[in-house]
Amino acid sequence: MRKTLVVGNWKMNQSLSDITNFFNSVKESGFSDEAWIAPQALHLSKLIEVAPKNFKTGAQNCSYENTGAFTGEISPSSLKELGCEFVIIGHSERRAIFKETHDELNLKVKKALESHLKVIFCIGETLEERESGKIEAVLGEQLKKGLEGVNSSDVIIAYEPVWAIGTGVTATPAQAQETHEFVRSFLAKETALNAEATLILYGGSVKPDNAKELFSCADIDGGLVGGASLKAESFMGLYGK
Ligand code: PGA
Repeated sequence: MRKTLVVGNWKMNQSLSDITNFFNSVKESGFSDEAWIAPQALHLSKLIEVAPKNFKTGAQNCSYENTGAFTGEISPSSLKELGCEFVIIGHSERRAIFKETHDELNLKVKKALESHLKVIFCIGETLEERESGKIEAVLGEQLKKGLEGVNSSDVIIAYEPVWAIGTGVTATPAQAQETHEFVRSFLAKETALNAEATLILYGGSVKPDNAKELFSCADIDGGLVGGASLKAESFMGLYGK
């Protein structure tokens, strides 16, 4: 039985006072479900300090090295030392804007796992790739190359169609379920992961009013959520609270 997980990806948003307000509202409401949040890297310590115990804190990216001459990078072992529990790797914004390659992402996944962080590995196709019938080829390549040599129960997959991220357009539950089913069967056939036990999250315009239907699909184990995770009321709404 896989659990349902909601992860907030705050991207480059939230001021320190937004963070204080978020957790004040959460504490006032008595919300006690397990929740994961990835704030900007420079706010990780703040979250670890103020978030209640049911919140796990993680980073949005990390380096493929733990130490050395890598100005501006984020060390996975330092994330662990700080109290982070997970890291998001391969978000489509990292792939598209920062040109992160399959090989680089594979090194990052391995180094993060070695550093005892859980990894949320993101995959997703563009609208053009979907419309030209390349979904399976694109996702298959992302999974195969990004997870090459990876055999760990600490990997979570996030399927985020690029055309649904931040656009207000969500994949329908049927579209998302069909792709999640493909991803799970690909994991079983082509990777060393335990496909049945691996959580596969959906991401892309998940909101309180569509979360329940998406998360109740057989192969959708929760969500990676940007916009709707920024305000406490809307974040808790993703849990139906
Ligand atoms: P969104 O972002 O929920 O704002 O579409 C999701 C993500 O990029 O992880």
